[in-house]
Amino acid sequence: MAWLTPILIIWLQMLCTPCQANKQASLKFAGIGDWGGLPLYPYYTSHEIDTANELGRITEILGLDFVLSLGDHFYFSGVKDEDDTRFKFTFENVFSHPALIPVPWYLVAGNHDHRGNVSAQIAYSNRSERWIYPDLYYELNFKVPQSNASVTILMIDTVVLCGNTYDGPDPVGPEDVVAANQQWKWIEQKLQNTKSEFVIVAGHYPVWSIGHHGPTKCLISKLRPLLKKYNVSLYLCGHDHSLQFIKEDDGSSYVVSGTGINEDIFKDHQKSFPSSWQLFSNAVNETTGAFVYFEVHTSEMLISYIQPDGKCVYQTSIPKRRL
Ligand SMILES: *[C@@H]1O[C@H](CO)[C@@H](O)[C@H](O)[C@H]1NC(C)=O
Ligand SMILES: *[C@@H]1O[C@H](CO)[C@@H](O)[C@H](O)[C@H]1NC(C)=O
Ligand SMILES: *[C@@H]1O[C@H](CO)[C@@H](O)[C@H](O)[C@H]1NC(C)=O
Ligand SMILES: *[C@@H]1O[C@H](CO)[C@@H](O)[C@H](O)[C@H]1NC(C)=O
Ligand SMILES: *[C@@H]1O[C@H](CO)[C@@H](O)[C@H](O)[C@H]1NC(C)=O
Repeated sequence: MAWLTPILIIWLQMLCTPCQANKQASLKFAGIGDWGGLPLYPYYTSHEIDTANELGRITEILGLDFVLSLGDHFYFSGVKDEDDTRFKFTFENVFSHPALIPVPWYLVAGNHDHRGNVSAQIAYSNRSERWIYPDLYYELNFKVPQSNASVTILMIDTVVLCGNTYDGPDPVGPEDVVAANQQWKWIEQKLQNTKSEFVIVAGHYPVWSIGHHGPTKCLISKLRPLLKKYNVSLYLCGHDHSLQFIKEDDGSSYVVSGTGINEDIFKDHQKSFPSSWQLFSNAVNETTGAFVYFEVHTSEMLISYIQPDGKCVYQTSIPKRRL
């Protein structure tokens, strides 16, 4: 049976992330969107459970400093108030791996959250130690351990910026134009002022996506120029239930991580932007998907795409910004 051993080792290596072990200290976080269960018993999907368990396992073996939650936390119409039992049945009881309990979640709302009471999701920050949702949009700052490198993350509300979708193809425009303009101004001001080596903007709707919903016109016209002007390292989003990595010719990078509840295989919008930018997607590359795992080191950020079975299906990296 000795011949089995190498096969077993290869199989174990495939199962056990990371794709590439990097022993240096790093800031570790996961991006995950669209995990919001279902509005009927048992209020979760089996894919959500598998994703949650893999997130727990990764936390246990590799570590996790925090989670960025990219919206659509409660299908199909958010929550009613802060006592809504969905907090328990769709979140607390599912992301219940012991290793995950101390890990903070930073959240932004999606279109389905905005169909319900987003203030209640903000208020729930008072009820759960790990649910940190201070406002519709906010800034986070971290240090890379054992280094002087800084990471700035802008958590933005793309539904306030661009409007809700109501299952249409594209958001219909902001409900409150003043609130939208205020947030645009805030985004530009924050990007202008940050000197961090790594800057991430995270919201619900994609700029680019090959999936079912596809690119968001409002973000292409108003957010994309800001990402480029201020050398943002990465835009991170959900909305389409897929994992994707998109990189424009000038290096502008986009991560879609929306496979919390399930993954779909739509590639309706493959032709909507150059295929040379489409470096990876679960649909084209025929993988499944759970979440995206980030390790920020002194001079680069390593990005790993993880399946529910723990296999890392794609890995890439982004260098620190040149200022
Ligand atoms: C939304 O939730 C907040 C916090 O629980 C609650 O005070 C408010 O009444 C809710 N709004 C509606 C319209 O139910
Ligand atoms: C949390 O509770 C405190 C005290 O009751 C209250 O003043 C505050 O507004 C609450 N925060 C949120 C986000 O609801
Ligand atoms: C951080 O910066 C300080 C002051 O410039 C420097 O002395 C130190 O070596 C730096 N540490 C690392 C890990 O780069
Ligand atoms: C994904 O699939 C495309 C098209 O077959 C291929 O060109 C590309 O190399 C694949 N990428 C990865 C990371 O496997
Ligand atoms: C952005 O990056 C480019 C190329 O790396 C560099 O020339 C430019 O100065 C940078 N600008 C800012 C604001 O970081």
